[in-house]
Amino acid sequence: MKLPFFKKKQVKIEESQFDNIPNHVAIIMDGNGRWAKKRGLPRIAGHKEGMDVVKEIVVAASTLGIKILTLYAFSTENWKRPKSEVDFLMKLPKEFLHIYLPEMIENNVRIETIGEFNALPTHTKEAINYAKEKTKNNNGLLLNFALNYGSRFEIVRAIKHIMSDINTSDITAETLDEETVSRYLYTDGLTDPDLLIRTSGEQRLSNFLLWQLAYSEFWFTEVLWPDFNKEIFEKALHDYQQRKRRYGGI
Ligand code: FPP
Repeated sequence: MKLPFFKKKQVKIEESQFDNIPNHVAIIMDGNGRWAKKRGLPRIAGHKEGMDVVKEIVVAASTLGIKILTLYAFSTENWKRPKSEVDFLMKLPKEFLHIYLPEMIENNVRIETIGEFNALPTHTKEAINYAKEKTKNNNGLLLNFALNYGSRFEIVRAIKHIMSDINTSDITAETLDEETVSRYLYTDGLTDPDLLIRTSGEQRLSNFLLWQLAYSEFWFTEVLWPDFNKEIFEKALHDYQQRKRRYGGI
C-alpha cells in the first residue's frame, strides 16, 4: 500500500524551489540485508539490488542540480561481517562501474571516494581508480563513495596529521581553528552536507561524517534501501525545502 505522502503530485519538486536544492546530500543506504531476508534471499541479493538504486539516485541527483552526493557504501566496521559478504561488497564498485560508468560519464558525473582507500583490495582500487581517472574532468555531480570510511578514525587521523605538521606549518594551539581541522579531513574542499538521509528506519549516524553533519538536516524513512527510489528521494528534498535552517541563530 502506498502511503499518501508518496503521491507524485505532493512530492514533486516545485520549479520555484529549484534554488533551494541542497548542495550536498549524504545518504546512509541501510536495509539491504533485511530486504533480502524478507524475500528468503541471501543478504548479498539485497546489496545487488541496492546497487541499481544507487544508479537511479545518482541520475536523479545529477538532474536536480545537486552538486555532491556522498554515499556510505562500506564502513570501517563492516569488515566484521562474514568474509563472503565482505568479498561481495568489495566487488560491487567494479560491478557498478562496469555497468554504469558510461551513464555516469554521460551525466557529467565525477567519481571520488573518502575513507582509507589504500586498505581496499587491489581489484576494488583498480576499478575505482579507473573511474576516477575517466571522470576527473567532469564538472557535474560529484559522486563521493564513502568506502572503508569511519568518522572517528578520520578525526584521529586528522589530529595525527596536524600534530606531525606542527613544526613545518604555521599551525599553533592558538591558531588552530575549525577551518584548519576541516582541511585535514577526507572531505577537504567539500562543503558540509545540507541533508542526511538514512533508510530502513534506523535513526543513528553509525560513525558517518560526525564532524561534517554538525548543522545538517536529517531525514529518515522506514523504506529499505533496495526499495528507495527517485520519488522518495524527491520527497526527502521537498521536506528539506520546508525546513528553516538557523545554524544556532534565531
Ligand atoms: C547496509 O545495509 C548497506 C551496506 C553495508 C552496503 C551498502 C551498499 C550498497 C547499497 C550497494 C551499492 C554500492 C556501490 C559501491 C555501488 P545492511 O546490509 O546493513 O542491511 P541490514 O541492516 O538490513 O542488515
